[in-house]
Amino acid sequence: MAVMAQKNPNIKITVVDLNAQRIADWNDNDLGKLPIFEPGLDQVVNEARGRNLFFSTDVEAAIQEAQMIFISVNTPTKTYGAGKGMAADLKYIELCARQIAKVATTNKIVVEKSTLPVKTAQAIKSILNHTGNGVQFQILSNPEFLAEGTAITDLTNPDRVLIGGDQTPEGKLAIQSLVDVYGSWVPKAQILTTNIWSSELSKLVANAFLAQRVSSINAISELCEATEANVDEVAKAIGMDSRIGPKFLKSSVGFGGSCFQKDILNLVYISKSLGLQEVADYWEQVIIMNNHQRNRFANNIVKTLYNTVSGKKIAFLGWAFKKDTNDTRESAAIYVADKLIDEQANVSVYDPKVTASRVQSDINYLNTRTEAQNNNYLTSLDNPYDAVKNAHAIAVLTEWDEFKTYDWQRIYDNMSKPAFIFDGRNVLDKLALETIGFHVKGIGK
Ligand code: UGA
Repeated sequence: MAVMAQKNPNIKITVVDLNAQRIADWNDNDLGKLPIFEPGLDQVVNEARGRNLFFSTDVEAAIQEAQMIFISVNTPTKTYGAGKGMAADLKYIELCARQIAKVATTNKIVVEKSTLPVKTAQAIKSILNHTGNGVQFQILSNPEFLAEGTAITDLTNPDRVLIGGDQTPEGKLAIQSLVDVYGSWVPKAQILTTNIWSSELSKLVANAFLAQRVSSINAISELCEATEANVDEVAKAIGMDSRIGPKFLKSSVGFGGSCFQKDILNLVYISKSLGLQEVADYWEQVIIMNNHQRNRFANNIVKTLYNTVSGKKIAFLGWAFKKDTNDTRESAAIYVADKLIDEQANVSVYDPKVTASRVQSDINYLNTRTEAQNNNYLTSLDNPYDAVKNAHAIAVLTEWDEFKTYDWQRIYDNMSKPAFIFDGRNVLDKLALETIGFHVKGIGK
């Protein structure tokens, strides 16, 4: 919304949320306090805020005033009832639709921005069109394809914008209004319009294909470790085939983030519900492979440290699910830490952007043990050299650039020997570290 406001100074955009603290943070004069860390976002907010971009808790006023409403609430995986652990929880979407239906007195275009299961627009439409006060609604699907950490460049220069809507004259008019909003900065040829179901499904499928590439290369990484192949070399060799392409072939400790797992589980659930068991099994394997990759990484640490990490200190460099974000949702680090704590390891974490309280709440959320026990085994430090002091091993969980610039000799001197490094992102200079004296284990090598 900030980028949309930046590119359309003549459109007034109001972002509303019930969470007053969050809105206050978005309005804070200190741009360092914005609730999301995203390179370049502070400048965009600074440019548009107070001009045509506003943050407010007055949800009803904003609904009244708007001609177009973007529903951008979260759709987590259900944690209860039918479809528990798989289906998308549409509670927040429905509450939004009901509130719009209650408050609106003029015709509106309602845009699904949240990632949703196919056919959700039908439910939203049904709620909105039963207000009985004559207000007309058009529902559009406009899924977001930006990735965290590169959000601003992905938005200013998108591969494509996707807009789905009803293929009726009114539906087409609504689609055109949204095409015009994006048209102020995105070339027309990159704005795709489809029917609403294709748009909803494309979002899930795009993430499923991306995640599948990571799981595919991670499956190969295990094969590389069992042979003498090197996964980076294999990735390069296959990626130069233009039909395969070089992107998203970086083997890792496993993909994380709020999207891949949730969206694939959603796809699996939809397929199962439609009786398409083979389709469901096919996509579920992407998740199974990812869980395996995380476990394998943790098990490898235990095995290498002479089959016991009990009472040993393992330092984590990185907790976020990828670099350049403070988002930790579904980060592989959480699961690797959980496994190591099961083995009674003391895990000390350093991440340049993740707070200590976030780390604790992430591990507590798994409910594997009590909060006090987690507190005992897991600590966070705000300096990498303190985090690695006296450690038996270092595990790299996120590919932050700064890790490459550390004084590795100083780190080595302060560690227990033999000093091990498990590079879950293949970002460190293995040869240079081995020259210092480290034992280094990457992924797929
Ligand atoms: C992903 C998609 O890339 C976006 O297009 C989509 O809009 C977004 O989900 C969403 O649905 O909102 P995001 O989760 O922010 O974006 O991050 P990615 O860059 O896709 O990375 C996901 C995970 O895969 C990270 O943990 C990353 O480290 C891992 N990954 C990615 C690899 O392990 N190897 C790779 O080669 C690429």
